[in-house]
Parts: sequence; C-alpha cells; structure tokens
Amino acid sequence: MSDKREIILSGIRPTGRLHYGNYFGAIKHFVDLQEQGNLCYYFIADYHALTTLAEREDFLQQTIDMLRTYVACGLDPAKSVIYRQSDLPCTAELTLLLGMVTNIGHLERGTTYKDKLSKLPSGPEGPEGNPLSYGLLGYPVLMAADILIVHANIVPVGDDQRQHVEMAIDIAQKFNHRFGEVLTVPRPVAAKALRLPGLDGAEKMGKSEHNTLDLLDDPDTVLKRLKAVQTSTDPLPLEVESNDPDVVIPKMPPSVGTLYRLLHLLAPEDVYLDFVNKYRRREKFYGTLKATLAEYVSKFNEPIIERYNAPDNTPESVVEFLRENAKKVTPVALETVEACREAMGIGHSLYRA
Ligand code: TRP
Repeated sequence: MSDKREIILSGIRPTGRLHYGNYFGAIKHFVDLQEQGNLCYYFIADYHALTTLAEREDFLQQTIDMLRTYVACGLDPAKSVIYRQSDLPCTAELTLLLGMVTNIGHLERGTTYKDKLSKLPSGPEGPEGNPLSYGLLGYPVLMAADILIVHANIVPVGDDQRQHVEMAIDIAQKFNHRFGEVLTVPRPVAAKALRLPGLDGAEKMGKSEHNTLDLLDDPDTVLKRLKAVQTSTDPLPLEVESNDPDVVIPKMPPSVGTLYRLLHLLAPEDVYLDFVNKYRRREKFYGTLKATLAEYVSKFNEPIIERYNAPDNTPESVVEFLRENAKKVTPVALETVEACREAMGIGHSLYRA
C-alpha cells in the first residue's frame, strides 16, 4: 500500500488558536500523510463556516493565524496543496450539480441538521415553516463536492464527520450510476481519530469548552494551566496489571487521566511508566507530575512557537501560498466539473471568467 500515492483531502474549520486536541486529532495525521509522499489537499472550509459562524469580522485574520500554526507544525505548502475553499468557486458549481442526485430525505437524516432542528425554540413548523437554511441542509453536498472535485480517495476526519463522508460516497455512487463512471468514490473513513480529553477531564478538548492546552502557549502559561488541573489527593487503586494507557487511564479520575494521556503522548515510555508506578503506590506526586509534564509540553511547543514566528512564515507569505495553491488546484477541479457537465448532458462551458 505504501508504494501507492494516495489522493488525500480534508477540510479545516477556521477556529483560530490551535490546541493539543487539534494537533493529535488532525494536524499530526495531515503532516504524516504529507510526509508519506501522498498528494494532499488541505483547505480552509470558509463556505462551510458561513453556515455556523457567528462572528466573521476577523475571519481572514483568524484563518491566516491558524495557517501559520499549521505550517509551524510541519504542514508544508510546497508539498501539500493548501487553499481556501472559496478560492475554488467551481466547488459551488459542482455542489449544484451533485444536488440533482441528492435526496432531501437523505439530507434530513444528517445528524448535524437533525441536531439544529431539535434545538429550535418553537419547533420546525412555525408560521414561515422550517427556518433553517438551505445552505445548512446542503452542508453534506458541499462537502461531497470538496472531496469529489479532486478525486480524493482518502478523507481523514474525526468521528463527528464520518457520516458526512459516507454521504459523499453515496452521492458519488448515485452520480456514477446515473451518468457513468465520472467520479472517484472515496474509501470509507478507516482509523478512529484520537480524541484528546480536556484539561477539566471532559471527554473532548475544545476551544468553546475552555479546557485546552494551546500549541503556542509559553512555559509560564503551560505551567499555570497544568497547575490548575484538578487532582484528587488520593489516587484510586488501579486494580489492573497492564500499563497500557487505554487500560489504566479509564480507571483514573478524568482530569488526572488527561495528564497521563498527555504524558504518554509527549514523554519517553519510561517516564510515563514511572508515573504509573507512582500512581499505583499512591504516593503524593501530583505536583511533580504537573511540573514534569509542563516541561515536556513546553519542549513540544518551543519549536512550534519558533517556526510560527519565523521570518518566512508571515501573514503575507500565507496569503501568497494560498493564492499559488488555489492556482494549482483549479485546473484539476475544473476538469472534474467539466466532466460532470458533459456526463449530465449540458456539455462543456463555452466561457469561464
Ligand atoms: N465539515 C468539516 C468539519 O467540520 C470540514 C470539511 C468541509 C471537510 N469539507 C470537507 C472535511 C471535506 C473533510 C472533507 O470539520
């Protein structure tokens, strides 16, 4: 398998500051896939953001900051094609074409849509009917267009996006069935992405949950954040012999488990084992654990902060590579759109601006 160059695509929601959950859940995989020599497309899903984002004033600024962090983490705009979704407007054209083979019923069963619908204060049947937007209902169609437009066969996403990828597979199959084998059907999402718990012990580390450890935190901030993590004075008995983090961590109080998860990810195995043994002996060690972990976190952050601030990683250089990479992906995308037009019977466009 490794000798084959896969076509990878994933969308990045512009969230601003990036944290450890983002890194171990997504960024690391993006960089690994890039370093394995695959053809990788990573884009900022700004059209998608329009369906949910409340504040858009500093949107471009946020996107740029975020991309500087991605680059600092090893994503390389010379190796991967990194662009903004809206700089590839033929994605919208493909969305329209794919909409012709998408059942509304199928979209109405989408979990994101269903969630929003169930949270409406007065139910979906007010005097004006369902107030949710056509854009929100069509979110999965736009996502299918993102994927299919570059013939991606692997789409690395977290569990929350799995259903959307399945919908894209379904749409591609329907299209091909009706109009001929034009689209590449991506493979279903394989590996379970790691979901890092929050510093408060919550299941998920998230920006809106305010429980993150950030990639650009300086050593003082790291220490402060880790010191604030709640640790009960007496560890619970572990009652297992295994040292496997997946076995021992669930036996710990959740926020302590987060510290061990981070330690296992960042420190050498023997340091992790040493602290598991301390836990077994139920010594007083949380202070040392936090101080040790803080050192590993800061050591991890240091090169990222340095590359974030590097002279070749400026807002201007980000804008420049976004432009260059949009130019690179455009011909590939247009070819797909033209092939779909042809297959559906309206034929090639006679003019494109
Ligand atoms: N919806 C995805 C998210 O919220 C982002 C996204 C948009 C995406 N288009 C995509 C991911 C295509 C994978 C493939 O994270």
